[in-house]
Amino acid sequence: MFVTRKVINMNFLYDTHAHLDDNMFDSDRNAVIEKIKNSNVGLLNNIASDMESSKASIALAEKYDFVYASVGVHPSCTGAMTNEDILALKELSKHPKVVAIGEIGLDYHYDDTEPETQKQWFRAQLDLAKELDMPVIIHDRESKGECIEILREKGIKKCVFHCFSGSAETAKELLKMGYFISFTGVVTFKNARRAIEAVKEIPLDRLFIETDCPYMAPEPFRGTRNDSSMVFRVAEKIAEIKGVSTDEVIRTTRENAIRFFGIEL
Ligand code: NI
Repeated sequence: MFVTRKVINMNFLYDTHAHLDDNMFDSDRNAVIEKIKNSNVGLLNNIASDMESSKASIALAEKYDFVYASVGVHPSCTGAMTNEDILALKELSKHPKVVAIGEIGLDYHYDDTEPETQKQWFRAQLDLAKELDMPVIIHDRESKGECIEILREKGIKKCVFHCFSGSAETAKELLKMGYFISFTGVVTFKNARRAIEAVKEIPLDRLFIETDCPYMAPEPFRGTRNDSSMVFRVAEKIAEIKGVSTDEVIRTTRENAIRFFGIEL
């Protein structure tokens, strides 16, 4: 709805998952966002990871017309969550530029938050998404199927698994559930065999692309600060894997995400 004519006429990219509110951008955030705007990224979701970043994501969406926001609490940040936070998320979600609840899920890689605590607040945020009829953005790291189990239990229909790191088998299971699957610069890494096998199994019309910046910088920038201007490299790699043009990957993944997040241009 706020995208300029010039951008609409080009085959622009949609970075569906970025964290531009991260403190790694504190020294030059505005300059980075100007660079992103000039790099053919015409839409971008700034994804929340806690209560503070839910508010910060909305602030960025208010400042930049091409930025949309999610609200939600990442599993590793659920330790201090309260019922008041759920009510606050509900209020924040009413902002016209909030397009999803996320990123939420389970992360058993780090043992900083008890699994029972993570599951309690994952369920509570899924209930909120259902009540609001909003899509959810899932962070699933080493949950050994528990994430999918809870999504089934809650009957969640509109869902994307972000920064997918699972197997081709798991990807097929998610496709059967009607879910979307999103890939980062991880597909460009030298040890990306598993991600590449998964990409092969997923039809283009069920894929999104994202940076997850400032993390997950694609090759040859792996380990450096990532930003949304690099989402092009994810599209290029997926095109190579699937044997289609980069233009087609950019267009199809963008249209998938525009429909999924309900963006009105
Ligand atoms: Ni993320």
